[in-house]
Amino acid sequence: MAKIVPACRNAFQQVRSFHVASSQNAEAKLKTFSIYRWNPDKPDEKPYMQDYKVDLNTCGPMVLDALIKIKNEIDPSLTFRRSCREGICGSCAMNIGGTNTLACISKIDNKNLTETSKIYPLPHMYIVKDLVPDMNNFYSQYKSIQPWLQRDDGKKVGTQQYLQSVEDRKKLDGLYECILCACCSTSCPSYWWNADKYLGPAVLMQAYRWIIDSRDTKTQERLNELRDPFSVFRCHTIMNCTRTCPKGLNPGRAIAEIKKLLGGIIQKGKPGLDTTALHN
Ligand code: SF4
Ligand code: SF4
Ligand code: FES
Repeated sequence: MAKIVPACRNAFQQVRSFHVASSQNAEAKLKTFSIYRWNPDKPDEKPYMQDYKVDLNTCGPMVLDALIKIKNEIDPSLTFRRSCREGICGSCAMNIGGTNTLACISKIDNKNLTETSKIYPLPHMYIVKDLVPDMNNFYSQYKSIQPWLQRDDGKKVGTQQYLQSVEDRKKLDGLYECILCACCSTSCPSYWWNADKYLGPAVLMQAYRWIIDSRDTKTQERLNELRDPFSVFRCHTIMNCTRTCPKGLNPGRAIAEIKKLLGGIIQKGKPGLDTTALHN
C-alpha cells in the first residue's frame, strides 16, 4: 500500500478543514425528526413523540445517520438497533414516514425541510424501549420451521457435498436474500391480529426456501407442520408484505406457492440432478 507523504497529508488536512469550515458556515438546513419514545424504567409514563432538530449540512444522507447524530450529539438516551449500516443485518428495521423499512438505506427527505420525519418502531410489536421491538416471538417462529438442510439418507452430516442443478439452484433466488428484518411480517394485518398462531410472511418465505430446496428431503414433514387453519392460511393475499420489503423480495408469492403445495395443486418434483451415486 502506498505511504501518504507529509506534503499529501497536509493537502488532505487543508481539503478536510475547507469542507468542515464551509459546512459550518453554510446556512443551517434544519429538519425535524419526531421520534417515538417509551422508557420501561418509567412504566407510568405513556409513550410520546419527541422532536429533534438536525442540521442536514453536518449529517449523513440516511435516516440512520440522523438517529446516530441525535444520539451522539443531542440525546444519548434515544435507543435503537443498528449494526451493518448497509441493509444487510436487518436490525435497523422501523416505521419511517408510515412505511416499514431499514433506517440505514432510507434517505432523509432533504427537499421538504418543513415536513417533519416521523419515526416509530415496527408496528404491533411489544416494545423493549423507544425504537426497539421485542423480536422473541418472531425468532421462535423462525426456529419452529427448522431453517436448515435436512435429509433422511442416514448419512453423517458434513461428510459429503450435496450438488444441485443450475435450475434447482435458481429456485432459491429471491428467497435466500431475506435478511429477516420483519418489515413484511409487521406490515401484515393478519400477523398483527394472530401473531401467536400465524407464522407471517418472513418466516413462511423461509419455510418455502427449505421446502423447495432440491437437496432437502423433508418436504412432506415440513408441509405437514404447516397444515392447520392458522400457520399459513391466515394469509389473505393483502400483499402489504411484498409492497414493503426493503430488499425487493416477494414473500406473498412464496406463501401462495406453499398454499398450492398444501392443496396438491403443484408438486415439488424430483431433483434435476441425481446424486445418489456420489453418496454411496
Ligand atoms: S422478506 Fe423482506 S421484509 Fe420480509 S423479512 Fe425478508 S427482507 Fe425483511
Ligand atoms: S399477502 Fe399474506 S402475508 Fe402478505 S400482507 Fe397479505 S396477508 Fe400478510
Ligand atoms: S443497520 Fe443493518 S440493515 Fe440497517
